[in-house]
Amino acid sequence: MRVLLIGSGGREHALAWKLAQSPLLEALFIAPGNPGTAQCGTNVPLNVAHHADVIAFCQSERIGLVVVGPEAPLVAGLVDDLEAVGIKAFGPSKAAARLEGSKAFTKELCVEANIPTAAYARFTDCEKAKAYVRTQGAPIVIKADGLAAGKGVVVAETIEQAIAAVEDNLGSGIAGAEIVIEECMFGEEASFFALVDGTNAVALASAQDHKRVGDGDTGPNTGGMGAYSPAPVVTVEIEARVMAEIIQPTVAAMAKRGTPFKGVLFAGLMITENGPKLIEYNTRFGDPECEVLMPRLKSDLLAALLATIEGRLKPSDLVWSDEAALTVVYAAKGYPAKPETGTVIGSLEKAAAVEGVTVFHAGTKQREDGSLVANGGRVLAVTGMGGTISEAKSRAYAAVAAIDWPGGFYRSDIGFRAV
Ligand code: AMP
Ligand code: GLY
Repeated sequence: MRVLLIGSGGREHALAWKLAQSPLLEALFIAPGNPGTAQCGTNVPLNVAHHADVIAFCQSERIGLVVVGPEAPLVAGLVDDLEAVGIKAFGPSKAAARLEGSKAFTKELCVEANIPTAAYARFTDCEKAKAYVRTQGAPIVIKADGLAAGKGVVVAETIEQAIAAVEDNLGSGIAGAEIVIEECMFGEEASFFALVDGTNAVALASAQDHKRVGDGDTGPNTGGMGAYSPAPVVTVEIEARVMAEIIQPTVAAMAKRGTPFKGVLFAGLMITENGPKLIEYNTRFGDPECEVLMPRLKSDLLAALLATIEGRLKPSDLVWSDEAALTVVYAAKGYPAKPETGTVIGSLEKAAAVEGVTVFHAGTKQREDGSLVANGGRVLAVTGMGGTISEAKSRAYAAVAAIDWPGGFYRSDIGFRAV
């Protein structure tokens, strides 16, 4: 089969690396890809926002399956447009991608399907929102509706911070905005993934992300600074509860609405004293979670994705390694506010030579002289595998230490909750 993968991050390098191992694969194209995906297939400079260009490419290259990595093309309806002309695509329809694209939509679905989540209220009016904050008190959570790449959320410790966040979103001069104000939940966070074929959901492995930029979970939120899998907080018992209380009711509610969900359902969870509660949904693989899931997946990814879109997914399609995986994100100095690009990265082959290590590219660029430079905020994801999370961690950090990149930085405590 000829496959087109959409995206250019560390997640897409991990997906490309895994797809390239499939016996079903004849050719792999990545649009737009990065220097890492170029080692697994052919990068093509398509503008994926132009669906007609993507369709024309698929038709001329006889693409049998399109795999969509990031959320933006899903929310823009790329899967719908491909399917409308008979091209198979992995990922939810535009209507089903609202689970990620609209926090208000997901909150309503939770109420309808009785899914455990934080209590909430929606506002478009600034004064009403501020009055609500004053009656509820702090800590309290303020979220912009719509896609915000993980930056649209403020966990306000004080009423003043909450009021400021409300004004940032709904203050004078801002039209058409909507916010969700939520009860603050307490516990340990985990990322939970399931493949869903419209009716059946099969759990993928669990993982834990590290969202804050600094050691000890300090500083601003990022896309994710590192991850490991499995997440010990997601015990067999918690996994069963997540499937029964959160994932299955969501899949059933989406089907009942006439907008069945197909693709990866990624639940951000808070494991509270009273059990798992949903923080939010994403409708794709997490990044950097994908960089620890793919190395642990023993089964053929391409076969599992095809089973998912054809509505015949079964638990035996996904077999996991008993080994643990841990990834360290190597980011450009200045990330997340203002990452410095163009700095030269050296000695990646030394890192890749460390036992059990794979180096995934995210924001990198190959210059004409052959040198590799930083070209984004999160630049590399260095994954180690090992018998335990500790072993995976020492291998990942040994590889990170071998990289020669004065323009980068990383957290030194990835995995601290599990080790
Ligand atoms: P989100 O973009 O919805 O994942 O939110 C980003 C981060 O904000 C989450 O990973 C949590 O750490 C935090 N967060 C979001 N909603 C809540 C909530 N209701 N209670 C506590 N923390 C939250
Ligand atoms: N690592 C979190 C995300 O992909 O949204």
